[in-house]
Amino acid sequence: MRFSDEFIEEVKSRNDIADVVGSYVPLKKKGNNYWGLCPFHNEKTASFSVYPPKQMYHCFGCGEGGGVINFVMKYENVSFAEAVRILAERAGMEVKGMEETGEEKARRARNDILKQINSDAALFFMNNLYSEHGKKGLEYLKNRGLTDETIRHFGLGFAGNNGKAVVEHLRGKGYADDLIIAAGLATNSETYGMSCSFFGRVMFPIISTEKKVIGFGGRVLGSGEPKYLNTSETPIFDKRRNLYGYNFARRARRKYYILCEGYMDVISMHQAGFDSAIASLGTAFTEEQAAMIKRDGCEVYLAYDMDEAGEKAALKAVRMLTAVGITPKRISMKPCKDPDEFLTKNGKEEFERRLESAENGFLYIEDMVRARYNLSDPEERYKCEREIVENLWMFSGDEVRMNSYAEAIVKRYGYTASEVSKLLEETRPREYASRDHLPKLTAYSPPKKPVPKKKDNVWTAAESSLLTWITDEPDIYSVVRRYLKADDFSPGSCREVARAAFELLEAGNYSNDVLFEKLEDESVKNDATGILQNSAPDIDTPEKRLAMLKDLIIKVMERKCELMGRSDDPEKELKIFNCILEIDKLKSGKLRLSDEEEG
Ligand code: UTP
Ligand code: MN
Repeated sequence: MRFSDEFIEEVKSRNDIADVVGSYVPLKKKGNNYWGLCPFHNEKTASFSVYPPKQMYHCFGCGEGGGVINFVMKYENVSFAEAVRILAERAGMEVKGMEETGEEKARRARNDILKQINSDAALFFMNNLYSEHGKKGLEYLKNRGLTDETIRHFGLGFAGNNGKAVVEHLRGKGYADDLIIAAGLATNSETYGMSCSFFGRVMFPIISTEKKVIGFGGRVLGSGEPKYLNTSETPIFDKRRNLYGYNFARRARRKYYILCEGYMDVISMHQAGFDSAIASLGTAFTEEQAAMIKRDGCEVYLAYDMDEAGEKAALKAVRMLTAVGITPKRISMKPCKDPDEFLTKNGKEEFERRLESAENGFLYIEDMVRARYNLSDPEERYKCEREIVENLWMFSGDEVRMNSYAEAIVKRYGYTASEVSKLLEETRPREYASRDHLPKLTAYSPPKKPVPKKKDNVWTAAESSLLTWITDEPDIYSVVRRYLKADDFSPGSCREVARAAFELLEAGNYSNDVLFEKLEDESVKNDATGILQNSAPDIDTPEKRLAMLKDLIIKVMERKCELMGRSDDPEKELKIFNCILEIDKLKSGKLRLSDEEEG
């Protein structure tokens, strides 16, 4: 859906940013800003600020920032259009979209067909499973302990031993070959022609939250490679943003999800009544999936396989979940390998007990790490300790928590605090490289602030105050332009913002929104919200105002000299000299306000 600019403006004006953000995140008012804990990274002290006068938010911890639509897009993990729709409905507005462009219409229509093809294929596979051709498939699933009810519930099917069958079926429904291929169901080759890639496999349809089939996992009967074949990425199948079993698990509305590794695990779990089991789609658990769980406000129990691969996958999942502030618990299925095997051998009551005695996921993983090493060998003991300490860095967004875990491993494994803090330094990730020598706050030396992504991306308070002022009161630009060009500002985000702002101001049509549209780079945009997160100084007399403006301009000019000193421009001496002259002149004189005063 597309919306007119007027409609979007209306939506923004009826959705005050402090109200909207406040409905997701508890906020406290301090001065003109509202402060709260950032929903986009994990923190214990509020560095997330909402600034109503400009209808903007910015997190001084992780750098995310933007307007109200942008906030909803990020928080709800939705498209621009969807965010506008959510906000319009929130304000009780009638959602009026503009006509879609021909291209958009065509894309949506095509995606609808791709989903329909997948649904039709799923039905075909299901019918196949219960037909003469499907005997082997059905037998396989029954042998694995699945009931007819479960098979129906998950829409399981059999792709048949003939790669042509589903193709013929879909052609018979009127779908063109190129769409059948685009849906991920068949490939075309010179030798075989159109044929289904899944033939001979039992089929696990993957169902989106809107209850549409978007792809499949297909398992070989018995042994064979690959064990599972998954639909490749298609326009309707995004493996990062969907989860197996989520369509059921979400509706079960439990306080927790049980995260498993495999499709079969999810199915056995649901069959045993654990209807909030989910799994990622043949790939590692992603950031986007962690965000989905966070939005549902659920806890997580990890039920990954008990082997080394499962341990690795669990560590990744713990990292992703920790980053959004969830502390998962780890279910032990020893001596079984996975939930499916555990349920078959021990039953659901026993699993229930394991669920109740699930342990802190981080500590559990560290125990697994230790089990991999021969701790009586000094070298191995060292490597093991180092690996465990390195894992502590996943808490780096939250120093209090990091320290508490450091303390826990000291106690648990008998390490000393100084060993841990030394190894923490040794394993410090690059983005946490220390910029300055802060005093150590605790025995475990907490992380220093991440250095900005771009090396040169540092600017002074005067630069950002001046940019704030100009963008808040565009009139003063006519004075500033006499002294400064955009390229006089520090390189990186600050200069990018100055360039975009000055260009608009020159053209006489400045607005924050247009400025944001001009900034392409996401991190520059985020930095811009930090710069613009304030208002022009509130000063009572015009004289004081001018004095303050002059002072800021001088500071920015001085900064320009300082930056020039670091450049390898052969004429830098001369340029610095001229700049210093100009600064001196300005210091001893008055700001030039209009052309008449010149000369
Ligand atoms: P597992 O091999 O543990 O799967 O892989 P499983 O569900 O326990 O399989 P069964 O019980 O032997 O049938 C876990 C998950 O990894 C993905 C699948 O999503 C699988 O469910 N996988 C595994 C693949 O995508 N391809 C493969 O070849 C193997
Ligand atoms: Mn498994």
